[in-house]
Amino acid sequence: MDKLVITGGKRIEGEITAAGSKNSSLPIIAATLLSGSGTFRLHRIPDLKDIATFRQLLGHLGAETAFEDNTLTVSTARVESVLAPYELVKKMRASIYVLGPLLARFGHARVSLPGGCAFGPRPIDLHLMAMEKLGAKITIETGFIDAVAEHGRLRGAEIDFPVTSVGATGNVLMAAVLAEGTTTITNAAAEPEIEALCQFLRAMGAEIEGVGTTTLTIRGRESLRHVEFENIFDRIEAGTILAAAAITGGSVTIRGVIASHMEAVLRKFAEAGCRVDTTEDSVTLQSTGRLTATSIAAEPFPAFPTDMQAQWMALMTQAEGTSEITDHVYHERFNHIPELNRLGAHIEIDGNRALVHGPQALSGTKVMSTDLRASACLVLAGLVADGATEVLRVYHLDRGYERIEERLRSLGAKIRREKYSEFG
Ligand code: UD1
Repeated sequence: MDKLVITGGKRIEGEITAAGSKNSSLPIIAATLLSGSGTFRLHRIPDLKDIATFRQLLGHLGAETAFEDNTLTVSTARVESVLAPYELVKKMRASIYVLGPLLARFGHARVSLPGGCAFGPRPIDLHLMAMEKLGAKITIETGFIDAVAEHGRLRGAEIDFPVTSVGATGNVLMAAVLAEGTTTITNAAAEPEIEALCQFLRAMGAEIEGVGTTTLTIRGRESLRHVEFENIFDRIEAGTILAAAAITGGSVTIRGVIASHMEAVLRKFAEAGCRVDTTEDSVTLQSTGRLTATSIAAEPFPAFPTDMQAQWMALMTQAEGTSEITDHVYHERFNHIPELNRLGAHIEIDGNRALVHGPQALSGTKVMSTDLRASACLVLAGLVADGATEVLRVYHLDRGYERIEERLRSLGAKIRREKYSEFG
């Protein structure tokens, strides 16, 4: 296995271009299943484990893919299978994204049930409820979701989500664009990644209104076409790099961003005492040498994202005062707290909120990452900890950050990747 060894105390300084978004790539790649017309060319796709897993999944279904220089080409003309096997779904929950497009194009899908995850139960009931509304008959047996369009083709419906779900919104969108008639989704997720999916589907010929809002209206089409498309930037990777500059007292400019996708996070950086400047496609953060405790509550977009909650907590260990961190999306997403405390942080859990008392000097040791963003949080802590921090089980990080150690090194961090064995 790989670990990252970080020697703290170096400032993060310089310029970097934002990577492509993981969370928009996944539904966009799944959406290629909607059309067998030709070869898709998708640009700015990050080179990540999850993307490789998704390629494997598409390959299993019969699609042909190639990946070079962050451009993914996909041809789904020869897709024959509608079965997403356990071995791939268990590696990546986002495999559930093939349910909507397979069902819409072939009238049938069989997708293994995803298991739990490191930060609590993550149900898929909303995905299934929505597919049923669109006219799918769903049975669950031997660990598989078996979905069949009862009339051969899905039918438009009114879908009101009781909880905002990025995944369920994306799945319904992909199902509804080929359904007969009109579908309306209320309380839809308005995350930039869903907006990007809508733009992609529109480019394919889909009719979607309300893009970027929480009410989406989709008029189903008979067929869609293949396209060339440029993916959006990864607002979570960008936010993590800004946090790296903020926690080390440095300064960084990230190019290739859309600042409005990061507004809630940028406001918090400013509130915490950092200088933040934006242009149309760049963001610059400069440390003022002082961080003030700043509370956050993670909620659906446009509020502060749950995927930045752990990184924010790392930052707050260095801030003056007590900050309160609440996660309303995933109440149990606090696996990073015991590890941060092992590095010397003083964080208490009180129900679904964490109280971070700062500033605390951190000192390097071995820490274990348990999920993607928790790992990013530990890397940030390592950047400011005294001595060497070893972040074990880096495979979590590799699911969502492209060449993280190279990118941080290019900004001045002292960080290297090493092999190790967990058995001695
Ligand atoms: C996506 C992101 C993930 C992010 C999350 C919230 C991808 C690949 N992953 O995950 O990084 O943390 O959005 O922004 O894009 N829920 C249900 N039933 C369902 C589905 C969800 O109750 O059927 C609940 C979840 O338990 C959670 C909330 O809805 O409390 C939001 O989850 P959701 O937006 O669906 O997360 P994902 O799409 O899985």
